[in-house]
Amino acid sequence: MNAIIDSIGVYLPEKKIDNHYFEQFLETTDEWIVSRTGINTRYYSSETEYTSDLCVKAAQNLADNYQKNLADIDFVIVATSTPEQSFPSMASQVQSRLGIPNAGCLDVSAGCAGFAYGLILAKGLIATGDYQKVLVIGGETLSKISDFTDRTSCVLFGDGAGAVLVESSETQYLHKSISTTNGDLGKDLYLSNQPAPINFEQIDYNGKIHQNGRTVFKWAVSNLPANIIKLAEKNGITTDQIDWMIPHSANIRILEAACSQMDFPIEKCLESVVNYGNTSAASIPIAWYNGIQNGKVQLDDKLMLAGFGSGLTLAGIYLTNRIQKA
Ligand code: ACO
Repeated sequence: MNAIIDSIGVYLPEKKIDNHYFEQFLETTDEWIVSRTGINTRYYSSETEYTSDLCVKAAQNLADNYQKNLADIDFVIVATSTPEQSFPSMASQVQSRLGIPNAGCLDVSAGCAGFAYGLILAKGLIATGDYQKVLVIGGETLSKISDFTDRTSCVLFGDGAGAVLVESSETQYLHKSISTTNGDLGKDLYLSNQPAPINFEQIDYNGKIHQNGRTVFKWAVSNLPANIIKLAEKNGITTDQIDWMIPHSANIRILEAACSQMDFPIEKCLESVVNYGNTSAASIPIAWYNGIQNGKVQLDDKLMLAGFGSGLTLAGIYLTNRIQKA
């Protein structure tokens, strides 16, 4: 069985945070944050608003925008690093709150690569012929796990969610994918509340994000272009045949460096980091949604999606866009 995506929804919480907010309690400036990351603003969930709330609203936005019936969804995948509980899964809470009567439910833990992994899994589930309609959501409330005493990381992150519906189709619109991991670098981007080491190395376990920014930056810049080129080759195309690249929006400088290495025009790269910060698993669907609604991404455009993050892991998928402006 083949797969198609022709609907998308997003949700951003209301509270807008500009860079000056951090100047009040950290030694930082708007100028530093903009020049090193490209980020102008990000959105924070309220104290009583959690990842499952954002995911439900993104799915409802999808249903409203594209008149989709959610009741016959037969599998829900939520990619997140910020579930409010380890179990039950976010997916099972989404299933209940959307009133989906009968669905398999699974969370994906792959940091900022989670949404791309979710699409790869959804395509695989549909290929078995056992499932017809898979809801894939990337949702995060990173403000709840940010360390607001660490100026090197807290300024980067934002909250948000994006959802797509992957459905069985006569034609294949989700093409070949790629995934790769360097687990040796696990300790360079983690969150823990237990004293167990990562790969035999001691870690902090205060339930906040710990990041070795330079290592992650270098890893992303050296792995992202190589894997996008590999994925293009796997799909029998060259990178100049890609209409839009949608990499995980971690830092505008990572995207610029990756595009420059691949000799790929930055104008053909969709981002969500400037207005929303790094929203981890939500960053790709938010950039995709905005690209569609602002008229850049057209029907049948060739898209290259690539997430990368905690693991460290990377996942990408090449697809033909079938989503139209809502
Ligand atoms: N304000 C002012 N100065 C700062 C700030 C800040 N917010 N943060 C760091 N600095 C300082 C540092 O202390 C350092 O000072 P020093 O030279 O006196 O030691 C200086 O700025 C330069 O620090 P670098 O770490 O070299 O800065 P860099 O240009 O690498 O930018 C950043 C740091 C933005 C974190 C960058 O490394 C980055 O974006 N890395 C990748 C992050 C990423 O993609 N993470 C993915 C997370 S996804 C997930 O799975 C959750």
